[in-house]
Amino acid sequence: MIQFQHVSKSYGKTPILKDLNFTIPDGQFVILIGPSGCGKTTTMKMINRLLEPDSGTILIDGQDIHNQDKVELRRHIGYVIQQIGLFPNMTVAQNICVVPKLLKYDKSRCDQIVQEMLQLVGMEQYADKYPSELSGGQQQRIGVLRALAASPPIVLMDEPFSALDPMTRESLQDEVKSIQQKLNKTIVFVSHDMGEALKLADVIIFMESGQVVQMASPEEMLEHPANDLVRNFLGKHAPDVPAPSTVEHFMRTNVVSVRKDRGVLECAERMARSSVDSLLVTDEHERYVGTISIGDIRHWGRELTSIEPLVRQSARTARVGDEAKESFDYLLDSGANYVVVLNADDTIAGIVTKTSVARSVAENLWGEAK
Ligand SMILES: Nc1ncnc2c1ncn2[C@@H]1O[C@H](COP(=O)(O)OP(=O)(O)OP(=O)(O)O)[C@@H](O)[C@H]1O
Ligand SMILES: [Mg+2]
Repeated sequence: MIQFQHVSKSYGKTPILKDLNFTIPDGQFVILIGPSGCGKTTTMKMINRLLEPDSGTILIDGQDIHNQDKVELRRHIGYVIQQIGLFPNMTVAQNICVVPKLLKYDKSRCDQIVQEMLQLVGMEQYADKYPSELSGGQQQRIGVLRALAASPPIVLMDEPFSALDPMTRESLQDEVKSIQQKLNKTIVFVSHDMGEALKLADVIIFMESGQVVQMASPEEMLEHPANDLVRNFLGKHAPDVPAPSTVEHFMRTNVVSVRKDRGVLECAERMARSSVDSLLVTDEHERYVGTISIGDIRHWGRELTSIEPLVRQSARTARVGDEAKESFDYLLDSGANYVVVLNADDTIAGIVTKTSVARSVAENLWGEAK
């Protein structure tokens, strides 16, 4: 676990990092992202003490790293940077084994590490080649393997793939993600590419001017970007929120209904009270069965006790989830007053009226109506 507690740093009088506070749990793939100059590299370099904070504390597994020997600390932290930095006069195998050798691992253990590492990226046959004999992407793969060779629990990666062509970058991203999951590493990865962040990260830390603007999972960030800058960064990756187009968005829900076993008089009274000339009728399970009109009650009502014989199935119905357009077209063409919207279980969800059509038009013209 890596913890930043009130970490601040200035260069001269310019504050660069301002009271950073965050915790990175073990085994997480964390991406630091934000505009150029926001302090990503500075933040990362503090984790392996290439830079020191002016104030605040950084803890790894609960230990203040300020009190730890730098060299010892870095043995537990792999580091990959954009400029690959393989040693040109060393073979691939020797490059991979720089740290294991420093740690005085014996030859057979080093050989085994080389083999295991190269297997991770399918480059076993390259062990004795020199960096100049490798493509850029292959060299960067070896750079990643070198950082992993002594099996550090934490790996820092500062825009490791930004100099690579898109195809190579894609495949290295896949490889690093699968290595991270296989070996259960904590990876702190600097990127300014939101596509890369969304693809790789368990958690994205979005920085702006030396502060954390948002720390969230890719899904959360996509759904609730903290501010316009984050939204801009998400850009084309943000889901297009489709304009609402289904009936339930436009329907009225305060609808007067009556049970079919009710009396004619009661029904007429309720219409009067609600100033309507028809009511929706339901059965004993609240399921829609039809409508009843004041005209029919006036005509036939005298001889009847319950309204059931007067219920008509003439009103048009739609289902929740149906496109509103069909109902709108119907209302405008037929002159009908409403379309009844039903839930999946046939209970009444609401009604779409001509007022609903007007609201939809208004929303399309002026945005979300109040
Ligand atoms: N040695 C230095 N002396 C003075 N200012 C510095 C120094 N190193 C970095 N800065 C400034 O600190 C700020 C943060 O730099 P940092 O390298 O952390 O940014 P970054 O987010 O990694 O940017 P980029 O995406 O361009 O790599 C920048 O404004 C930079 O100019
Ligand atoms: Mg940087």
